[in-house]
Amino acid sequence: MKKRILFLMPFILISVNRSLAQKLTIPIETAHNAVVLQVTAKNDLVQAYFGERLNTPGEYSQIKEARTSDYTGLYQSAYTPSGSRNLLEPTISIQHADGNQSLDLRYLSHKVDKLSADVTLTSVVLKDPVYKVVVTLYYKAYIKDDVVEQWSVIRHQEKGEITLQKFASANLNLSSKAYWLRQYHGDWAKEMRPEETQLTHGIKTLDSKLGTRANLFMPSMFMVSLNKPATEDEGKVMMAALEWSGNFRTDLELDPDDNLRIISGINNYASAYKLKPNVDFTTPAFVYTFSSKGKGVASRNLHNWARNYKLMNGKGDRLTLLNNWESTYFDFNEQKLFGLLKDTKALGVDLFLLDDGWFANKFPRNDDHAGLGDWEENRKKLPNGIASIAREADKEGVKFGIWIEPEMVNPKSAQYGKHPDWVIKQPKRDEYYFRNQLVLDLTNPAVQDFVFKVVDSLFIKDPKLAYIKWDCNAVIYNAYSVHLKSQQSQLYVDYVRGLYTVLQRIRKKYPDVPMMLCSGGGGRVDYGALQYFTEFWPSDNTDPLERIYIQWEYSYFYPAITSSNHVTDWGKQSLKYRVDVAMMGKLGFDIVITKLSPQDMQLAKDAVVNYNGVKSIIWHGDQYRLSDPQTDPVACVIYVDTTKASAVVFDYLVSNRYDAAPRSRMLLKGLDPAKNYAIKEINVYPGKKGRFNGESIYSGDFLMKVGIDPEIDPSRSSVVLKIDEAK
Ligand code: DGJ
Repeated sequence: MKKRILFLMPFILISVNRSLAQKLTIPIETAHNAVVLQVTAKNDLVQAYFGERLNTPGEYSQIKEARTSDYTGLYQSAYTPSGSRNLLEPTISIQHADGNQSLDLRYLSHKVDKLSADVTLTSVVLKDPVYKVVVTLYYKAYIKDDVVEQWSVIRHQEKGEITLQKFASANLNLSSKAYWLRQYHGDWAKEMRPEETQLTHGIKTLDSKLGTRANLFMPSMFMVSLNKPATEDEGKVMMAALEWSGNFRTDLELDPDDNLRIISGINNYASAYKLKPNVDFTTPAFVYTFSSKGKGVASRNLHNWARNYKLMNGKGDRLTLLNNWESTYFDFNEQKLFGLLKDTKALGVDLFLLDDGWFANKFPRNDDHAGLGDWEENRKKLPNGIASIAREADKEGVKFGIWIEPEMVNPKSAQYGKHPDWVIKQPKRDEYYFRNQLVLDLTNPAVQDFVFKVVDSLFIKDPKLAYIKWDCNAVIYNAYSVHLKSQQSQLYVDYVRGLYTVLQRIRKKYPDVPMMLCSGGGGRVDYGALQYFTEFWPSDNTDPLERIYIQWEYSYFYPAITSSNHVTDWGKQSLKYRVDVAMMGKLGFDIVITKLSPQDMQLAKDAVVNYNGVKSIIWHGDQYRLSDPQTDPVACVIYVDTTKASAVVFDYLVSNRYDAAPRSRMLLKGLDPAKNYAIKEINVYPGKKGRFNGESIYSGDFLMKVGIDPEIDPSRSSVVLKIDEAK
C-alpha cells in the first residue's frame, strides 16, 4: 500500500526494480471513471480495467490479470506491438533498421505530473528488450470533465531509420457481455447518419483514406455502449474521436473471449513512415469519455472539456452573420455587396461574410472551374478591392469577414501555371479532379508559406478583418508529392502536419480572429483542427428538418457553440422553423432578406434580438436532450445555463404523419428543483400569440416531474420557450 502511494506522487519518476515488485498498478482516474494499467510479472503493461472508478483506490491492485487463450497472447496489452507474442490487431508495427519486424514493449518507468488541480498527465515508458526502441504512452486526464486524451511518442536509437508500419495513438480494452457501436456515415449534404449495431466477433474498421476532406464519408467519432444501447439517461457508454484532420482508422476487435479492443490512430494506409534515430514521432490524441448514466452525461462531458480545454476560444463569444453564398453564389459586384452590408445592419446581425467568388483575374472566379489559388481581388467585381468593402462595412457599423480555400487550386489558375510542382498529383498519370480542383502539397514548407500568406495578405487588405471561413472542398486523388521525393508514403501524415504548422503560425500572429472550419459542408470536423477554429460548418444541407438530425448527432460530440447554423432557402418549412433550428448553435443567415415579406422580416429581426438574449445559454450552458427525433415525432432539446437560472427549450414536429404531434407533457431536465421559473414563448410569428406568456410560475421540481405541454401541432410545428428564474 505504501509503495502504491509513492507511485502516484506527482512529479516523481519511478523506475521499478522488478525483483522487488511483482506487480504495479497505475490507475488513471477522473471524477467518476478510471483506466487502470498494470505491470505484470513479465513487465508487460496491460490495461486491466476501464469503467467507473472505485471508492477505494487501493483495490485497483486486486484486479486480476485476465486469463488469456494461448493464441491471443497479449490481449490486455495497453499498447499492442506486433511480430512477437501478440497475434491480435497491433497498435504499433515497425520494421527495424536491420529489416527485422518484431517488437516487444516492456515497462520501464512511469510518472504522474499534476498539470493543474484538474489535469494530470500520466506517462509510461515502454522499451523493447532487444531493439533500442522506446514508446512513451501518455494519458492526460481531465478530472472534472471525465475525459481522457491518450497518445504515444515513438523514438529509437537504432543504426539507421526504422519504418513505422502502424502507429496508432491508443488501444483500449473494454469488458462487457455485449457491445453496441454507434457509428456515422454520409456524403455531401448527408452528414452524420447514424447506425447502431451490436459488434460481432472479428474486426470492425471505421476509417478514411480521403486525405483532405477526410470525414466526407465517415467521421472518426463513435460511441460504444456496454451490454445494450445506452439511452439519453441510462446505460454505460463511451464516446470517442481521434484528434486528427486526415486519414484515420479505428479498429474495434471483439476477441474470442468477448473482450473488445479499440485501436485508434492515423490510418496506416499507404503511410509507412521512416523514422530517423533520436527523433520523436508523436501520434495525435485519441479522446474519450465514459458515462454510466447514458449519452447525455457523456456528451456534456465532451462539451465541457472542449470549451474548457480544446476548442479555440471555447468560453468566448461568437458573431452572428449574414453570408452571401446562397443569395448570390458567384454573381455579385461592389454595389450588390454594399446592399448586403445594409441588409446585415437591417437584420441586426454582427457581421457580413463574403463567400467564394471575390478573387482571380487571369481566370476569373465566376464558377468553380477557375481561379482558385489566385488570391487577388477580381477587378471587375471589386474594382476598389476588399478594402472598399471593409470601409463600407465600417460605415454601416457591421463587421466584415471573408471566405478562402487556401489549400487548393484550380488547374485553370495563374498559381497552378506558376507552380505545377506545388500540386499533389501523379507525375505520369492524367490529372483527376474533385470539384475541378487539386490539393496543394502542404508537406512543402514553401507551400506552407504560401498558404500562410493567403491569410496574412487578407489582414493587409483589411486590418480589421473580423472573421474567416476556411473551406476545403477536395479530397486527395493521385497522391504524390514532388517535395517528398522518395518518401512518398509520408504524404498523408506530413500533409496534416503541414496544415497544423500553418494554422499554428496563423494563430500566433492572429490569435483572436474567429475562423469557421468548413469542408464542402462537414467534410473536416475534428478536435485536431478545432484547436485553431472557433466553429465548424456541419453541412451544406440547411433544410431545417434535415438539420435537426445532423445537428442532433454532432451534438453528442461537439458543443452547440461550435455549430454554425445558417437560415437559408433549403427546405419547405416556414422561416420561423428555419430560424428556430439555426438558433441551436451559432446563428447566421444566407437568404435575400429584401425578398422577405414584412412579417418574415420582422420575425427574423425579432429572432436576432431574442437570440442575443439566449445565445450565451446555448453556447455555454448544459444541453439535455428531451425527445429524440430518431424515435419520436417531436425533437426537443433544452439548454440550461450553468447557474440554472435560465434555460431555453426548442421543440420541433418532425413527423408528417396524421395527428403525429403528441398531446402530452414534456419533462424538462437540468433545472434546479428548488427554484421557481416563469416560461415565455419567444420567436412568436408577428401577429400570432404565444401560448406561454411568463405569467404562470412553476417549480423546477414540477417542470422536471410533471412537465409542460409545449402544445406542438402542425400549425405550431416549432416552438421556442425561454425559461427564467422567477424572483
Ligand atoms: C462549400 C461550402 O460548404 C459552401 O458553404 C460554400 O462556401 C462553397 N463551398 C463555396 O464554394
